Amino acid sequence: MIRQTSVVGSVASFVQISISIACVIGGMTVPASGQQTADPIARPTDLHCEYLTNPLGVDAARPRLSWRLADGRRGARQTAYQLYVGTDSLAVSQGKADQWNTDKITAAQTLLTYAGKPLKPFTKYYWRVDTWDKDGKKNQAAVLSRFETGMMSDRNWQGAWISDSRDVATKPAPYFRKAFQTTKKVRSARAYIAVAGLYELYINGQKIGNHRLDPMYTRFDRRTLYVTHDVTAQLQSGKNAIGVLLGNGWYNHQSTAVWYFHEAPWRNRPAFCLDLRITYDDGSVETIRSDKDWKTALSPLVFNSIYTAEHYDARQEQANWNKADFDDAKWKEVIYRATPSENIVAQVMHPIRAVEQISAKSVKKLNDTTYVFDLGRNISGVSQINVKGNAGTTLRLKHGERLYDNGHVDLSNIDVHYRPTDKSDPFQTDIFILGGRGEETFMPRFNYKGFQYVEVTSSKPVELTQASLTGHFMHSDVPPVGRVQTSNPTIDKIWQATNNAYLSNLFGYPTDCPQREKNGWTGDAHIAVETGLYNFDGITVYEKWLADHRDEQQPNGVLPSIIPTSGWGYEWGNGPDWTSTIAIIPWNIYLFYGDTKLLADCYDNIKRYVDHINEQSPSGLTSWGLGDWVPVKSKSPVELTSSAYYFTDVSILAKAAKVLGKQADHAYYTALASKIKAAVNSKYLNKETGVYGSGLQTELSVPLMWGLVPEELKAKVAANLAKRVEADNNHLDVGLLGTKAILNALSENGYGDVAYKMASQETFPSWGWWIVNGATTLYENWPIDAKSDISMNHIMFGEIGAWLYKALGGIKPDPEQPGFKNVLLQPIFVSGLNRADVTHNGPYGAIRSAWQRNADGLAYDVTVPPNSTATLVLPLANGANVYENNKPLTVSSPEIHLLESTTRQSGQYRLQAGTYRFTIK
Ligand code: BGC
Repeated sequence: MIRQTSVVGSVASFVQISISIACVIGGMTVPASGQQTADPIARPTDLHCEYLTNPLGVDAARPRLSWRLADGRRGARQTAYQLYVGTDSLAVSQGKADQWNTDKITAAQTLLTYAGKPLKPFTKYYWRVDTWDKDGKKNQAAVLSRFETGMMSDRNWQGAWISDSRDVATKPAPYFRKAFQTTKKVRSARAYIAVAGLYELYINGQKIGNHRLDPMYTRFDRRTLYVTHDVTAQLQSGKNAIGVLLGNGWYNHQSTAVWYFHEAPWRNRPAFCLDLRITYDDGSVETIRSDKDWKTALSPLVFNSIYTAEHYDARQEQANWNKADFDDAKWKEVIYRATPSENIVAQVMHPIRAVEQISAKSVKKLNDTTYVFDLGRNISGVSQINVKGNAGTTLRLKHGERLYDNGHVDLSNIDVHYRPTDKSDPFQTDIFILGGRGEETFMPRFNYKGFQYVEVTSSKPVELTQASLTGHFMHSDVPPVGRVQTSNPTIDKIWQATNNAYLSNLFGYPTDCPQREKNGWTGDAHIAVETGLYNFDGITVYEKWLADHRDEQQPNGVLPSIIPTSGWGYEWGNGPDWTSTIAIIPWNIYLFYGDTKLLADCYDNIKRYVDHINEQSPSGLTSWGLGDWVPVKSKSPVELTSSAYYFTDVSILAKAAKVLGKQADHAYYTALASKIKAAVNSKYLNKETGVYGSGLQTELSVPLMWGLVPEELKAKVAANLAKRVEADNNHLDVGLLGTKAILNALSENGYGDVAYKMASQETFPSWGWWIVNGATTLYENWPIDAKSDISMNHIMFGEIGAWLYKALGGIKPDPEQPGFKNVLLQPIFVSGLNRADVTHNGPYGAIRSAWQRNADGLAYDVTVPPNSTATLVLPLANGANVYENNKPLTVSSPEIHLLESTTRQSGQYRLQAGTYRFTIK
């Protein structure tokens, strides 16, 4: 499996790989065009537990197990499966299971919820699945997979919550340590660490794991996460030591900004609870735990803020502080602390990592003590500096997205909501005081920033070169599952910039921007959810974030506009146009993964939310919301857009009720949705002219996209929208809500060419305008020289990333058979583009939809993953026909079933799994 770590990297390597016969994307082989290989090694692959490979520390009593079928043959499908789960790997590999054996089940299903004997904590379970192919033949066996349970219950913790005795204002981060002996040979060891704040864990001087900013941000007083690490390799026989460094994170927010995180009700000096559970070779277990026998001292990390930066004084380093022989006589006693919440939950998700290393593209020396580094692209993350100098030399590393004309870093677009009380905590500026011990390295541990440039100033001259500074792009390390490649380089760059902005805003919860706010703005996140899911395997992050929603929801259903929050956001910005995340995200997870769990988990929350609006707005119309945020010029009525989102939530609730078998709710909310639709249309729709409101782009496209337009008027409204866009010179005149809708409203209603014209513009206002001006991420505002709302790494205009899949590739989930069990394929061969090659790797594998114009007409390559089908609708110009192998497709075959009359070509087919090349001429 080739693990792609970066968006740009994935494009580059894709180009190389696709020269050979097949390529690998997100772990699945995508056959190259026209290739049809029998697959002699068909087998189940990609065995996942809770959407992860061999996870540790699983708390779910009934974890979800899933797999894919690797079988390249046409018509490949799974006719039956048998699943084995047990504690003995040999027995499981021999088809015996002491926990769960499903028998042979005749079904195509590849996602199961564990239903065997109750799982025990701290236990490794092995599992395998046998599958039978389309001919009823048993496939090759899959590689044995495993998952390991964690605490499973609060009662299993043995450690105490401890901290040092200092208060919230103390700036230096605390170290904690404990030395201990292992008495026997160690078979395995796990560290379970729950933290209010952030941590780095060390055993015998070695840092454990490659995660960063663990644990993820939650509302600490309602839900606190713990992380499990395999530390078997780090333990040694005899003397050992554990070291813990705690950071503030969002728990002890010392920087002051307009959202009052410094006044969070949970705020306290960071604390942790740790159980190091050692299993010896003889089967006995010993747990080394956090308790009064630990020692603490202040570390050289003299200040750390998730929001601003980190300050480190290397002169205060204590060599070997985390090793067994260190003399900690001068260290202090620890104190017991109350548990931050009653709800300590396993963090089972893709962690944040420093995913990509970026060398500086250039460095400018402005004077003896000032250098400005340019990474050549905007990222979220940190910089790392290597430098030599005298002890006490102080370096300040100011990170920003722009430069002033004089070459210095300009923070004025991103420091606007920061309210510092003094000069000790400069924005996005790390401070590194050298220890004077030769070459030294500094890279923050408990902070990240949004930046492209780093201005390094030193208190005394130091020699720096281009190689002295490296950028680390950090984000939730969600596996890439999509790829878009076209003949238009600007479109490809927009796709990359969208993904870079999406990832820059994914840190265990989706954010608006990585610099100015780092807030979990709800509106930005539901706008971007499809872009996220077409491109990345994001389910673990969204499931965690929707749990954050449930923690924050008031009993009356109200949600705050930013989640998590310290309390800000219940008063402002939290209407349905933003907080519809509660409905839209679970519904999209259902569509993309075919998994009902999140929808079921959030069902009552969606209901309370919708019921609240219904109570407040019995007419069906609501003006609660911010409206079409940061528009190009025209502002659409808030009541229209907010009511459209209210309608969307109620419609999702009605559909969810049906999926979950709640018939009465289904009927009730279907009726409520109709009532809202009628109210919106009676106030805003002119039935004669087919115009909503005054006919602005957002006014027309939002009702079209969200299904408010009466069927018989759709064509008229769409035609009006196309005319409006033409009158606007085929350029955007929308804000956040309009950008979500405009391209889809056009392309879903017969105006794909107009949508493409708009999407590919390179003049103001457009995405391409940013790109031709050097953007590598998406911006917050259309004019690049806007005076406010001008973060340069925002995802809120990012729907275009999803649209490329939905329109050019035409790849959409089928609500009737979600999780791409059946793929809706309706590519649009837009004029002005010669080639589009779009792949999404869904639960069944890689779906590819690729077309290219050539002298002969148009070649269309499609791959339908094994065990799934596709409904293909090809747009056929008058007189055009579809051919496979030079034969017109006029009769159904077992693999290509014509969906309409066969006397003439309709262009509509049901495809079985496999790879096809069609020619349209
Ligand atoms: C954020 C946006 C957000 C908006 C809500 C801004 O400050 O950056 O992305 O959605 O506020 O009004």
